[in-house]
Amino acid sequence: MKELSYDEILISPNKAVEILFQFYGIIGEASMLPGEYDMNFKIRVESKDTYILKISRPGTAFEELDFQQKLLQHLVHHKSSLIAPVPFLDSSSQLITEVTDDFDRQRYVRLLSWIPGRIYHELNPQRDSLRLSLGETCGILTKALQNFDHPKAHRNFEWDLADSLWTCSHLELFNNEEQQILHYFQDRFKKIQKGYKKLRQSVIHNDANDHNVIVSSDLKDPMVLAAIDYGDAIYTQSINDLAITCAYGVMGQEDPLSASLAIIKGYHKSWPILNEELEFLYDLVAMRLIITVTKSALNKIKEPDNVYLQVSDAKAWGVLIKWGELSADFVHFSMRNTCGFSPHPQEIEFYNWAKKTNFNLKQLFPSRSTKDCLNLDLSVSSNWLGHLSEFADFDLFEFKINKLQQKHPNKIIGGGYLEPRLVYTTDAYMKMGNERPESRTIHLGIDFWLPPETAVHCILQGEVIVATNDKGDKEYGGLIILKHQEKDLSFYSLYGHLSVKSALARKKGEIVEAGDLLAYLGNYPENGNWPPHLHFELMLSMLDYDVDFPGVAYKSEINVWKSLCPDPNMLFKLESLNTPSTSSNEELITYRKEHLGKGMCLSYDEPIQMVRGMGAYLIDQFGTSYLDTVNNVAHVGHEHASVVRAGQEQMALLNTNTRYLHQNLNLFAEELLKTFPPEFTVVHFVNSGSEANELALRMSKIVTGNKDILASEMGYHGNTNACLEISSYKFDSKGGSGCPEHTHIFPIPDSFRGKYIGLDSGRKYADEVELKIKSLLNSGKAPAAFIIEPIISCGGQVELPPGFLKETYKLVREAGGLCISDEIQVGCGRMGSTFWGFQQHEVIPDIVTIGKPLGNGHPVAAVVCTKAVADTFANGMEYFNTFGGNPVSCAIATEVLQIVKKEKLQENALEVGNFLKNKLLEIAREFPIIKDVRGQGLFLGIELTDNTLKPLADQTAYLANRMKDLGILMSVDGPDHNVLKIKPPMVFTKTNAEQVLLGLKKVLSEDYMKI
Ligand SMILES: Cc1ncc(COP(=O)(O)O)c(C=O)c1O
Repeated sequence: MKELSYDEILISPNKAVEILFQFYGIIGEASMLPGEYDMNFKIRVESKDTYILKISRPGTAFEELDFQQKLLQHLVHHKSSLIAPVPFLDSSSQLITEVTDDFDRQRYVRLLSWIPGRIYHELNPQRDSLRLSLGETCGILTKALQNFDHPKAHRNFEWDLADSLWTCSHLELFNNEEQQILHYFQDRFKKIQKGYKKLRQSVIHNDANDHNVIVSSDLKDPMVLAAIDYGDAIYTQSINDLAITCAYGVMGQEDPLSASLAIIKGYHKSWPILNEELEFLYDLVAMRLIITVTKSALNKIKEPDNVYLQVSDAKAWGVLIKWGELSADFVHFSMRNTCGFSPHPQEIEFYNWAKKTNFNLKQLFPSRSTKDCLNLDLSVSSNWLGHLSEFADFDLFEFKINKLQQKHPNKIIGGGYLEPRLVYTTDAYMKMGNERPESRTIHLGIDFWLPPETAVHCILQGEVIVATNDKGDKEYGGLIILKHQEKDLSFYSLYGHLSVKSALARKKGEIVEAGDLLAYLGNYPENGNWPPHLHFELMLSMLDYDVDFPGVAYKSEINVWKSLCPDPNMLFKLESLNTPSTSSNEELITYRKEHLGKGMCLSYDEPIQMVRGMGAYLIDQFGTSYLDTVNNVAHVGHEHASVVRAGQEQMALLNTNTRYLHQNLNLFAEELLKTFPPEFTVVHFVNSGSEANELALRMSKIVTGNKDILASEMGYHGNTNACLEISSYKFDSKGGSGCPEHTHIFPIPDSFRGKYIGLDSGRKYADEVELKIKSLLNSGKAPAAFIIEPIISCGGQVELPPGFLKETYKLVREAGGLCISDEIQVGCGRMGSTFWGFQQHEVIPDIVTIGKPLGNGHPVAAVVCTKAVADTFANGMEYFNTFGGNPVSCAIATEVLQIVKKEKLQENALEVGNFLKNKLLEIAREFPIIKDVRGQGLFLGIELTDNTLKPLADQTAYLANRMKDLGILMSVDGPDHNVLKIKPPMVFTKTNAEQVLLGLKKVLSEDYMKI
């Protein structure tokens, strides 16, 4: 029969409407949908999407459609939630209606319910929670179809994975590289046919591709509702359905294995997968993709106009290439892990064998007269390791190891199995995950720290399978891998960082006996830049590695790796070799809930445990790093080496108080005053921002003899009583009890969304302050002080409009009050163009309070004022502060101020801040949810509202949480919780800024952020 052209197959929407009325008595509008076989129409009745009308191609066999309809009818009666469309009967109670088209050809018509929602492939983002739900729904479907059958389900079909080897005869459609990939998988599939044929079978949907899956309309946490289009359903191996779901569900993902595991987990929950089925999943996913690309190549020739037929082609190739790069065994072990089986099939066997063994360290190092061990903690949170700069210093590291050994001459220093370490930082240890870059941090072997040339002996007979000079991205020294066979159990032992000469003396295939000398430990530099040590690792499988078997693993894959590389201490059974456990996040949270004040809040829906800081990064207990845009406290960068050293050095000498002379106090005061205009000559030392403001308020009251304070709406000035009483951000919010008697709050001078809009609003806001002053004066009082930040931080990074500060300072002073500039957030060069925020407004305050940035995390703060203020304040009462101004804090603060200068961090704030702000303004044009970008230097804010300027707190919280998923920490503030704040350590680079911009663009494109 002559093949019909696509035009001849087409049915018009008008014709569909006609058919709908004639056979179902329904009046509706029809719009055409894409489809491979049927002509599909979405039917709207009374403005609601209600049905889908399916009109077959000419020549479609009735039996095939009968199969689909009966299948859907079967699913209607299934108990589970909606997983498929419901079929409707026509006016003569038929499930399938016969009609003739305009060319007098017979067509079959079916009417199904329309499932409202979104199509899977349109969703952004596609995260593990969605994939889990995809797996769950598909599992329910497989389960629901277990007791269904139909004669048409038993047919030969090109999309049946069991028949997929037909693709082998179309290799000529592809280029050489593509052919290699296809051939690799086809060949594997040929070899496993026997086992595959024995797997359990049932009718399956067979096409849960991302265009056939309907997802709920919930933009934040979407759930998969149903699979549609049952035209490909077939009786075959049940596991095929999961393979197909995975093949499409992982498309477009950086890490398809990790993505597939979420689907498998969901599926296994609904329909438990059998152990023997899992063995085939890796190949089946690939074979489905191969059918897709082969059909697509054939269709390009056959129906070049039908784009639907090529829809998954490029994405399928993307997955195929990545899938082919994975170790099939590793995929299998990962899938086993996901389904609750021991990841490595021989894990238990190995445990049982190891339990019975009785090895000791003397057998491994006979030249050492001890079996005893001293655990060395090299984890991310190790105190012994100290500052990273110390660790990077080879001589110092070696010195520390030698010292430790001298202190414990009868012990072998060792440890490190499953220890999260921070030292593997080159690209070879990195990969891009589905959300963020990941690095290998979890150590898989045990390290023994011994002198160079220490003899390493064989503790168990084995065959040498690797004996090499291990040179990867850098030198690692000699490497030997032995293969051991214990009855049916085979495993491997790996010896790294040997002397190259002794490792090369071993020959591949050679058998070494228990007790034989294996090799000697290597030394610097041939074993890399670490002090001499043996890396001893066990493996139950070599995967696809010949030489460069990993010594560290990704945290996300650790359950699989620890099964694959069991603890070498299982052989020695030494308590001291066990890696000390650290508190889990859950434990910390539980304790916190019970014993720490409830008002101390945690950031993020899923809190993080931070154990280290490094420049602009914070690092959790697993070695996962986060770019920090929140921490204006770590002003010169987290754990800046010189600041740490300054504190350590002074701490080692003396820490007292201001009642003794000490040059550190003077040096700090001198360094601080250098940054001020000449009007400021006196410093008082305190420990925190709150204390600084507390003292500034006391000074103002004593100097003026007044009690009343003028402060901004939504201002925050600290947590002491007096500070809280002037902080509208607190007393006007949850738990607050309103404005106290002596506080006078003026409207927040927010020129974007405040009482007065526009850059010329400064005068109007100053008038508001004037009103407050007048009312004070009218009641016979006068202000003690006017306090404000140059950019109101907690109020949502609100920049003061031009002229406001100049006007208000004048008014306040005329009324007898002092002017306090709270520089606790913005000071010390953060503004970029000026060192202090008040300098941007051409005013000179009477008192400046400084906190957060001064100590780079150490509690040190200061109050700086004019001589006049200081002299009047000194009324005879001693100002004593136990910790304020101690020599350690002063040493630290002096160092911070010097680093700002030395490293030109103010200039950096200006350059990077301007770059970031300009780019954010560009992004705001692209994403209308961003309505304002503001701030100076590295103190910026982005405000999110809808088009009526209604603040979008949920979206802002979503944005911050999603940025955290991408590895970027951001905070939310403002009275309406809709301002994203950016105030990173001042060592923040342009590259860091670009990383933030990239992340923001990604999240802003997500469905939940659309307005
Ligand atoms: C503007 C401002 N002033 C004062 C304080 C209080 O500082 P501290 O928390 O060091 O007491 C803060 C703290 O966030 C602040 O942001």
